[in-house]
Amino acid sequence: MANGALNHHALLTLLLTVSALSPAAKAAAPTASAEELFARRIQPLFREKCLACHGDDPKKIKGGLDMRTLGGLLKGGESEKPSIVPGKAESSPLWLAVTREGDAENWAAMPPKENDKLTKKQLAWVKAWIAGGAPWPDAKRLAEIARTNADNWSAEDGIMVKTSGASLLNRPAAATSR
Ligand code: HEC
Repeated sequence: MANGALNHHALLTLLLTVSALSPAAKAAAPTASAEELFARRIQPLFREKCLACHGDDPKKIKGGLDMRTLGGLLKGGESEKPSIVPGKAESSPLWLAVTREGDAENWAAMPPKENDKLTKKQLAWVKAWIAGGAPWPDAKRLAEIARTNADNWSAEDGIMVKTSGASLLNRPAAATSR
């Protein structure tokens, strides 16, 4: 009985701790890593894949959606629905459009050409960015992020190449010759 009470207490403490932590996560407060993801991946991706029709030429914006700012995305286009629900990729029209999973009447596949569709990796970045609260740091903060991460980012890319190269060369030999 005493043990049971103790366990119960421990469980309660655990539950309280978890519930004290989770509101922050649920409120989709933008995270630092999501900011970095935006700087490193999302903004370049939007420039490459979306802005040709959604902002490069402000006079010819397709579907009414201006993707040059977070404000534009939150305003949405002709649907008059926010294209992004921060924290909730699955409820975000932008996500349904890039995964090409919107039903035909709702969210047309984006970019429209099948050949231009996002890769799995790019989709994962978009999802993580929305899940991380869809932060859109201002130009000054973006420059700061780029500056503080420049070495890291190039080193990461360099290491990734080296590691996979090394494992390709070494592992099979080590595994089979002994
Ligand atoms: C070649 C032009 C073109 C490109 C590139 C393009 N779009 Fe679109 N987009 C459109 C058009 C046109 C519409 C209007 C819907 C339709 O007619 O299909 C639209 C509509 C949308 C909408 C719905 C807006 C609303 O509220 O009605 C979203 C979201 C969207 N685009 C996201 C994107 C994203 C994200 C990208 C990049 C990954 C992208 N688009 C790239 C042409 C484009």
